[in-house]
Amino acid sequence: MRVPMIAGNWKMNTTVSEAMELVNEIRQELDEIDNVDKVLCPPFVSLAAVKELIKGSSIKLGAQNIYFEQKGAYTGEISPLMLAELCEFVIIGHSERRQYFNETGEIINKKVKAALKVGLKPILCIGESFKENEAGRTEEVITEQLRSALAGIKYPNGSVIAYEPVWAIGTGKAATGEQANKTIGFIRQTIYRKYCTRVAQETRILYGGSVTASNIAEFIQQSEIDGALVGGASLKAGEFLSIVKQTSEIGVFERD
Ligand code: PGA
Repeated sequence: MRVPMIAGNWKMNTTVSEAMELVNEIRQELDEIDNVDKVLCPPFVSLAAVKELIKGSSIKLGAQNIYFEQKGAYTGEISPLMLAELCEFVIIGHSERRQYFNETGEIINKKVKAALKVGLKPILCIGESFKENEAGRTEEVITEQLRSALAGIKYPNGSVIAYEPVWAIGTGKAATGEQANKTIGFIRQTIYRKYCTRVAQETRILYGGSVTASNIAEFIQQSEIDGALVGGASLKAGEFLSIVKQTSEIGVFERD
């Protein structure tokens, strides 16, 4: 049985004090919901402060990026070893990193390997662009993104996959539940073909892209969708709490 997950990707928003304020607003209510994995992914500079605030609660912590070397002369980078002390998850391969920071499949693969090596669980983001979607190339693009990201990885220990169609991120134009369910079903098939039934059944696959309190139910009701990676709406306390609460009410059923 896969436990639903809602992860909040705060992106490059919130100063340390704003991050602490937001956590203080949502901490108690989030903690009381025990049938959903709740993951907060604040900016690097707030990880330690947020970790302290959620200590003793059921809320989990994730980073938004990682470098693939464990240590050394890489000015400005953050290593897997550093993150392993602070958090459980790390977002890898987000489309904004692919687009603005030229992250290739090869780099993403190195990052996934480096994270797994120190016990961090990747939240691996994949998804097609608008053009690729229009051209009917969604499955082809996703197959290639999965192939390159997971190349040489024997067992993706606890990894989570987030299907985020690029055209739906930050645009207010979410995919439909049905569309997302179909593609996520395809992703699960691809994981099954690369690994085995057990890995396909235990891997959580989230939807991401303009998820709000108004549309979360549509996604959570689908059989293949195990939760959401939420950007903009995760910065609003009430909105994020509502997303997690609705997931808790609808999303907990036998998923296999
Ligand atoms: P959004 O972002 O919810 O603001 O569309 C999602 C994401 O980029 O993870």
